[in-house]
Amino acid sequence: MSENAQARITLHPDFRIGDVDRRVFGSFVEHLGRAVYTGIYEPGHPTADAEGFRGDVASLTRELGVSMVRYPGGNFVSNYVWEDGVGPARDRKPFIDLAWRTIEPNTVGTDEFLQWAEREGIEPMMAVNLGTRGVAAAAALVEYCNGEAGSRWADLRIANGRTEPYGVHLWCLGNEMDGPWQIGHKDAHEYGKLAAEAGKAMKLVDPSIALVACGSSSMQMDTFGEWERIVLSHTFDVVDHISMHAYYEELGGDRASFLGSGTAMDTFIRRVVASVDAVAAQRRSDKTVTISFDEWNVWYLETRFVGEQNLPLQRDAPRIIEDVYSGLDAVVVGDLLVTLLNHADRVPVACLAQLVNVIAPIMTEPGGPAWRQPTFYPFATTARLARGTALDVRVTSPTTTTARHGEVPLVTAAATWDTAEVDDGTPGGDAGALALFLVNRSAEPVDVEIDHPGVAVTLTGGVQVVADHEPAVEGPEHAAGVAASCVRELTAAQLIEGGAGRPEVAGRTVLTLAPESWTAIHGAATRA
Ligand code: AHR
Repeated sequence: MSENAQARITLHPDFRIGDVDRRVFGSFVEHLGRAVYTGIYEPGHPTADAEGFRGDVASLTRELGVSMVRYPGGNFVSNYVWEDGVGPARDRKPFIDLAWRTIEPNTVGTDEFLQWAEREGIEPMMAVNLGTRGVAAAAALVEYCNGEAGSRWADLRIANGRTEPYGVHLWCLGNEMDGPWQIGHKDAHEYGKLAAEAGKAMKLVDPSIALVACGSSSMQMDTFGEWERIVLSHTFDVVDHISMHAYYEELGGDRASFLGSGTAMDTFIRRVVASVDAVAAQRRSDKTVTISFDEWNVWYLETRFVGEQNLPLQRDAPRIIEDVYSGLDAVVVGDLLVTLLNHADRVPVACLAQLVNVIAPIMTEPGGPAWRQPTFYPFATTARLARGTALDVRVTSPTTTTARHGEVPLVTAAATWDTAEVDDGTPGGDAGALALFLVNRSAEPVDVEIDHPGVAVTLTGGVQVVADHEPAVEGPEHAAGVAASCVRELTAAQLIEGGAGRPEVAGRTVLTLAPESWTAIHGAATRA
């Protein structure tokens, strides 16, 4: 009998949460620091395409499996005049972006971004400025992007060289409008009324679009809960989704709380769902407003970012918010993805914030290489393996008590089952591709018994990320070092026999999870 702590997971393809919407593997590109300039865009870079976009970044973005990208902000959007970023380059004027106190050259704007996304096969998610602007500018941008020839803004797009409408489906009604830091910050009633009117006008321009109302910037906001209730009391009929934003970091060396971040995210989602459904109940409505978790990540906001605030006015794409991640951060990112999959029924859209250089899985040097941060691996692996239906995995796990989130399980799990791959698209078949995502938050190994009654499981391989120590150096060398010491490809034999050394028996598989690790396992499952 192993000395390790024990956890148990029960898995069955009939226990379903909901389909995995590919948009849950979205990301975010904001005009902030080097996300755009020397991030996705760098004319003159050896890999740049004819439009000036970096080929190495595009290739890593594809490898990351990003399905959708939110643009152009973030805080940036709340003082953005989109009309200044379209048309001939010679007419574009720089402006002071008040959100990040940076001179924005307006070289990349709506057309450049949307055409990049189109070339890369990425769905764009656009945000409109409801900070310093309002209904008319928002409706005009929808017309510019989606309108057919024969009206003012659509004709401007055509004059700017783009005949076909872009067909942008998903639109954010502003960004973090509950935050006092937001340019044009509003209270819930002010924002709710404006969002309802802007949304109404935008849908009159293009009724096929879907809208995201701003929810709370975090669960810690004083207005959280009440904000959702009031905003939805104004916008319920016009919006499709409400946003959530959350960033997690290790504070004061409290590793246990940091490793429990997935539980905090889970609590946040449950509370937003409750707030949203309470509004629906009050209105006797059958409508389900779902969640766009359009900013989430590990961000050393309090630990590192505070020192980057109050900088003098910046120019030329400054290096700000360029967090360097560790294996521990990657384990937490993997656990946050587990939480998102476990809410597949209510969270169809999510964006890892951000994509390049700014709290990002991809980093670049101007004129130099692009590379993967440790957080790249759990995201890319989950985006690749999590397909079909998210299963309702039942976990029995030892727990630990954390200072910030109370009692949290030491083992978390999510699973997906995809009959399409095995059964040539026939749903509900007896065989499917199975993916299982497991996190061990404890500093010790844990044995996990996976019960899969009535289902034969053959595991074929997997990927594991383990926590490391704080990075000593920055740049590609650090990233390569962390990848070498923290990221492992696993074979089925290593998975099943590793550690515990117990063979698979019918309906049961035993694995040993490394301390502070995230593991993805794939294989096939067939109903007996
Ligand atoms: O992603 C960085 C910033 O975090 C975004 O601009 C803002 O929306 C959030 O506070």
